[in-house]
Amino acid sequence: MKTRLVFLGPPGAGKGTQALIMAGKFSFARIATGDILREAIANESELGLKAKEFMRSGLLVPDEVVNEILREKLSSTDNGFIIDGYPRTIEQADFLQKIASIEMVIYFDAPEELLVQRIVNRRVCPRCNAVYNSVENPPKVENRCDNDGTELVHRIDDVEDVTRERLKTFWQKTAPLVDYYFSRDLLAKISAGKQLEEVTAEIEIAIGAI
Ligand code: AP5
Repeated sequence: MKTRLVFLGPPGAGKGTQALIMAGKFSFARIATGDILREAIANESELGLKAKEFMRSGLLVPDEVVNEILREKLSSTDNGFIIDGYPRTIEQADFLQKIASIEMVIYFDAPEELLVQRIVNRRVCPRCNAVYNSVENPPKVENRCDNDGTELVHRIDDVEDVTRERLKTFWQKTAPLVDYYFSRDLLAKISAGKQLEEVTAEIEIAIGAI
């Protein structure tokens, strides 16, 4: 079974949701650059101050900032891991090649209008990063996290105009990584527009877990 994984795909494709499920099932470490940056913003740290305006506008945080985050997180990970939301540029992918040996990159393929709908209805737990959807995947108690009861929040970049900007950024900067990893024989494409459980099963088949 492949255990050193990257989840690649447009915003709203379900990378975070599936990374949490797979990490729970197989005890993989989960390295999610978006979550790390949001936490830094909430703590008003130096990193958060650097990242805030980029994220708020749907732009990428500079490569050198996220590369350092990744290097630090990977250095404390010895078993299997899922990297969610990194790399997002060719420069980041080249950096990753130097510091880790990735076994598989899962590409989450989904139609654009579905992504926008999923994002505007998304709610997240600021404490444990659990992801919900007010239409498709609501919490058991309205607006409260199933895990810890924390009040759910709407991400600042989950409004429609910023979402469209993020999608534009994805197609310009990140989509070229599909060819990058295909040519290195590392890419597995899954249909991320399906029901949650079906997507999980596709990933499990791709990595050789079932
Ligand atoms: P990040 O937090 O990584 O956001 P993203 O990549 O845009 O992805 P999302 O979190 O929006 O979507 P997802 O695919 O995880 O979907 P989810 O599972 O939540 O990055 C945010 C920002 O940080 C970036 O814009 C950038 O500024 C910065 N950043 C981060 N990493 C960076 C890097 N490496 N370099 C530079 N900048 C960086 O699901 C979405 C919704 O759909 C949820 O409501 C969920 O419940 C629902 N859903 C999921 N799957 C299904 C399903 N199968 N059926 C129905 N509903 C579903």
